[in-house]
Amino acid sequence: MHIKHLELQNFRNYSFFDIEFTPKVNIIYGNNGQGKTNLLESIYVLAQTKSHRAYIDDNLIKTNESKAVLKGTILTDLSYNLELSIGKSVKKAKIDGENVKTIASYIAKTNVIIFSSEDLDLIKGGPAGRRKYLNLEISQLSANYYSALSDFNKLLKMRNDYLKKINNNEIVDQNYFQILTDYLINKSVFLIQMRHTFVEKLNEYISKIFEDITQIPGFNLKYKPSGGIDSFDKNDIKATLEKRFKENYEKEVILKTTISGPHRDDFSFNIEEDDLREFGSQGQQKVAVIALKLSEIEIFKDYKKQNPIILLDDVFSDLDNIKKNNLLKHIDDKMQVIITTTDLKTINKQLLENANLIHIDKGKILENEVA
Ligand SMILES: Nc1ncnc2c1ncn2[C@@H]1O[C@H](COP(=O)(O)OP(=O)(O)OP(=O)(O)O)[C@@H](O)[C@H]1O
Ligand SMILES: [Mg+2]
Repeated sequence: MHIKHLELQNFRNYSFFDIEFTPKVNIIYGNNGQGKTNLLESIYVLAQTKSHRAYIDDNLIKTNESKAVLKGTILTDLSYNLELSIGKSVKKAKIDGENVKTIASYIAKTNVIIFSSEDLDLIKGGPAGRRKYLNLEISQLSANYYSALSDFNKLLKMRNDYLKKINNNEIVDQNYFQILTDYLINKSVFLIQMRHTFVEKLNEYISKIFEDITQIPGFNLKYKPSGGIDSFDKNDIKATLEKRFKENYEKEVILKTTISGPHRDDFSFNIEEDDLREFGSQGQQKVAVIALKLSEIEIFKDYKKQNPIILLDDVFSDLDNIKKNNLLKHIDDKMQVIITTTDLKTINKQLLENANLIHIDKGKILENEVA
């Protein structure tokens, strides 16, 4: 699939902006702070309704404005138009002018994979970032995952609110509390199984990709669900969580929070048994996240029978030639790739020759070869 046309109103540093892309390589270049990353981010946000980097939607709206509007035309076998408006604490998504029934189906429709410098936080940062990654990516593959996650978050909040009440010696209806807990476990089982499957699917590709680039074998991801789950059979997950909830009840009342569940999950990047977070060099960590994204491309092609749109934010400037070439080997010429750079010299010659060059300056286009 590819994005053909994009229109932005009051998104980050863009007031009114309109751009055409080619189905192959597009290179956005310009000086620092001109809006290159914002432009890539806008494509991600349009497809996924949220940013891969910003945690607060309000930051996506141009300063002193109240609403951002993003519109795009996506071409697959069919063509369709996406529209997303982001107001302060409201978001609306439309496909071909019609409000969507569920955000879940909107998100799963258009697939984008972004490579950016923030990706290193996946290894170095805390588990919240890794959970966010799992949630964003699996939601693109499965609308059911996104729906279950929304339900889970609501139930978790309700359960934590109830724990606060119990702690406060307000009314305690143990039946109601048990029902909340059962529903929560139910959703948790589904989320944990999906995360496990996704990580295992990544593991089918990742070790070979990592070895191709570094010559080091044994690279793998390890999913670490909270609550000591060690078998991913549906009934086993359920039984383990039920046990955990029983054991933890008194502690949960004191802490006023749910101790075990998908909201506490994590995963690690390892060479054999060693966690790259502690043992990996900078270079290995960088290759690890590249291998992660490249594996994802394979999964998306497999599940969706479509190429995802690839967004590369300034990744070439940091990579040596071996890594650049390896990265490119996995991105075949049928895919749409949108690349940002401050310096066209860092881009491989063969990419540059076939690319559409777009020059961005202060949120405006100075040059676009297709337009
Ligand atoms: N909500 C917003 N409203 C207005 N301007 C914003 C908003 N968010 C970010 N900006 C501005 O966008 C600019 C940064 O844009 P961006 O990160 O896309 O730059 P870039 O071209 O990728 O630069 P670099 O080459 O340094 O990565 C900054 O000047 C920042 O102040
Ligand atoms: Mg940038």
